[in-house]
Amino acid sequence: METTLVLLKPSCVQRQLIGEIVNRFERRGLRISGMKMMQLSDEILREHYAHLVDKPFFPGLCASMQASPVVAMAISGVEAVQVVRTMAGVTNGRQAAPGTIRGDYSVSNQQNIVHASDSVENAAIEVARFFRPEEVFDYESGAFAYIYGAGECK
Ligand code: TYD
Repeated sequence: METTLVLLKPSCVQRQLIGEIVNRFERRGLRISGMKMMQLSDEILREHYAHLVDKPFFPGLCASMQASPVVAMAISGVEAVQVVRTMAGVTNGRQAAPGTIRGDYSVSNQQNIVHASDSVENAAIEVARFFRPEEVFDYESGAFAYIYGAGECK
């Protein structure tokens, strides 16, 4: 089992799509292990988007991420990092495949509804960035017996 970080961005919160996007993850069979609303600080954004601080779009990216609270989610499942990243689709909503979150709800490179961790290593760092240990719950999901095959859910 892996746990990955998803942020429902202000483009999701402001368009009142929180429930719809949360529903997609639950419907797929993923477990919500942590969830909270937060207003992001300059500090956390500089850390979270450290690979982008020198890009010309960085100030606009920060403004878009601070336009309203976001919803941070820790989402768990077998190979959850790749499963969720694939559900999110490519960065630019105009190029994202239909059926993906970005492909179904966005037509923008920046207002693209969700953040999803891009590797197992980064997922661990990002979950720890947004959640205290006691805010992420490793609870038994009764549904997993019907979501995964025997021996598949480790
Ligand atoms: P990045 O980490 O490259 O992509 P992803 O979110 O798919 O992992 O970029 C982070 C965010 O930065 C992206 O979701 C939206 C914003 N962004 C722009 O505003 N303009 C751009 O040209 C790019 C590449 C990203």
